[in-house]
Amino acid sequence: MWRCLLLLPWVLCAEISVLYLSWYDDPTTTMTVQWHTIADEYGDEISIQYPNGEWLSWQGEHVQVAAFLIHKVSLVDLEPDTEYSFRIGHDPQIYRFSTAPKTLEDPLRFVVGGDIYDNIKLFRRMSQTVLEHNPRFIVLSGDIAFSLSPHPFRTSAMKRWISFLKDWKHLMISKNGTVIPFLMIPGPHDIAPDHYELFFSLFAFPKKQLYRTVNFGNYLTLFLLDTGNFQPIEGCQTLWLEKELSSHTHVPYSFAVYHESAYPSHGPYYDIIPKKIRTYWAPLFEKYRLIAAFEHHNHAFKRTYPIKANQIDPDGIVYISNGGWGSNYHTAKDLWYLEKKQRKGSVLLVELHPQKALVETIDLLNQSMDQVTFYPIKK
Ligand SMILES: [Fe+2]
Repeated sequence: MWRCLLLLPWVLCAEISVLYLSWYDDPTTTMTVQWHTIADEYGDEISIQYPNGEWLSWQGEHVQVAAFLIHKVSLVDLEPDTEYSFRIGHDPQIYRFSTAPKTLEDPLRFVVGGDIYDNIKLFRRMSQTVLEHNPRFIVLSGDIAFSLSPHPFRTSAMKRWISFLKDWKHLMISKNGTVIPFLMIPGPHDIAPDHYELFFSLFAFPKKQLYRTVNFGNYLTLFLLDTGNFQPIEGCQTLWLEKELSSHTHVPYSFAVYHESAYPSHGPYYDIIPKKIRTYWAPLFEKYRLIAAFEHHNHAFKRTYPIKANQIDPDGIVYISNGGWGSNYHTAKDLWYLEKKQRKGSVLLVELHPQKALVETIDLLNQSMDQVTFYPIKK
């Protein structure tokens, strides 16, 4: 007998209110499906429909955090660039997801945004715009749920994460049930020493560290970096970054994504985090020819001139974004390194083609604020 038939009537038809997909392994052949329940209404199992039409079951696991069961199923050995349908337990609702392509033959679109669930009204409007672009995946680039913000009405970090994830499910699933997977790198409002366990219980990471490299076949590498929220910028992370950058110089498109900024549009240029990023990471970006760096936390759009050795140089690195998916806006300052700036929230729409990458900045009303083209590294 189905598990929920034994439960209270109000549970019988309860819709899953929290469901999110992410990757902690190869995005071309894996997917991690997570959902929350209170009374274990659906068990830990999901059914997947394969391209040949066959449905197969996958068994997962769960952990309990406060009153919530956080379920997780890690799917492996999937086909690249393929759409799969899935159901959770006996829930009749059918969802869909797609794996990433192994090679870049058709344009691949993804979104990068940070400072997300602060002003909820702005978040919802921007999310609607993001969904209209139908990205293959989204990089949540820190200060995601603002679970650690000192607002008096935010009674607990877990409640704030649940609130964000419910909104995420409600907003970021298309009409045909397609769920957009995310990659994430937290910011200072997401993770703190007394919340490490909560964070790593909620989200799937390959190991208990935030920084990592994500490879999309042979065409795209994302270096997701931790600007000191769990591990320091300098030391092990910088050593790791050099090793990773040096072993990916053959990849046509490589971007770094992190939360705080080397070149802030609003915050202090001489603050400790910006100084550390410029000291430890920027020389490596330059040495190993990163395409661009996406950085956030300032809530005011910016695009820098290309910068090398902390000077404007056509052979340098461009730093773009500065957060504001759903945060109140700040004023961008007049600074020597800013080629473009605007007091507006935004996200980045990145579209990769075999011959070029288009990075467009859009506001919450889907107005284009900036466009820049990058060309693949050729070896
Ligand atoms: Fe931030």
